[in-house]
Amino acid sequence: ITRTLCSSAVRNAAIKHVTVIGGGLMGSGIAQVAAVTGHSVVLVDTSEDILKNSAKNIQGSLKRVVKKKFADKPEAGEEFVQKVMNNISTSTDAASVVQKTDLVVEAIVENLKVKQALFSTLDKVAPAHTIFVSNTSSLPIADIASSTARLDRFGGLHFFNPVPMMKLVEVIKAAGTSQQTFDALLDFTKALGKHPVSCKDTPGFIVNRLLVPYMLEAVRLYERGHGSKEDIDVAMKLGAGYPMGPFELLDYVGLDTSKFIIDGWYEKEPENPLFAPSPLLNKLVAEGKLGKKTGEGFYKYK
Ligand code: 3HC
Repeated sequence: ITRTLCSSAVRNAAIKHVTVIGGGLMGSGIAQVAAVTGHSVVLVDTSEDILKNSAKNIQGSLKRVVKKKFADKPEAGEEFVQKVMNNISTSTDAASVVQKTDLVVEAIVENLKVKQALFSTLDKVAPAHTIFVSNTSSLPIADIASSTARLDRFGGLHFFNPVPMMKLVEVIKAAGTSQQTFDALLDFTKALGKHPVSCKDTPGFIVNRLLVPYMLEAVRLYERGHGSKEDIDVAMKLGAGYPMGPFELLDYVGLDTSKFIIDGWYEKEPENPLFAPSPLLNKLVAEGKLGKKTGEGFYKYK
């Protein structure tokens, strides 16, 4: 017992102040969940307009939660939303806000060079104790971390869309990530009310490594004329218990995101048939049909 107490006593102090870089769907969701669970959050993006939109999305999502949780007490619901929003501030200058943060969560564009440039800048200004993580869905954490001098305090936290609803967070231990950092990230995930799973720094970690080839295989099935989109979706919902069928999920995740992931893996392992490009997916992306967010992907949306 004494040993357990000692080892937990030397652990990192709990993460209280979180900087989320990227006000898109994932970044906003992460900021929301951290704020709901009482963390001080700064959400950073390049323009005030983007940040205003992020705040609007967070408020919209909170209202959906409140509608059910505080169904009979609208005033308490309003108070809850206000309290959560008070935990979130915004900034367009990452370098100035990380000076008093415990954790930086990066959720920006899936581009290695852009991520490296960001972390290289932040590494010089963030305090020594600050942990850096990326929410990348497909890039190696070690490659992103190599732009910094804090390999031991660098890891991955991979969230799922919609972040407020999905209970899982993949916690990634890269080659340089220290056990202390990894433990702090597991504790933080639990403090968010999420369920962590431990992942190695391998392509797609666990979920995307299984989910992306599955979704692409559904597209190939459809391309061969073996089933309609609608039937394949219904089949996987009613026959396998998935909440969304593969085409619905592709549209939800974004066809560009899915293509980006598969293209990256194909480049590294062109002989792996699971990573082969899909002509139909490529065509839709070229036409700007990226899924729900653009109003059309495999399906049309109002
Ligand atoms: N914020 C708050 N609440 C939300 C929400 C959000 N963004 N989205 C959904 N909800 C809640 C609401 O409470 C909603 O109730 P409401 O209609 O009263 O507002 C409730 O969920 C039910 O939502 P819907 O009726 O719209 O639809 P569903 O019952 O189908 O649930 C879903 C929606 C939770 C998204 C469910 O369909 C689902 O789990 N889908 C699969 C999602 C998935 O697989 N995500 C992982 C994608 S992979 C990924 O993200 C990795 C990346 O790297 C690519």
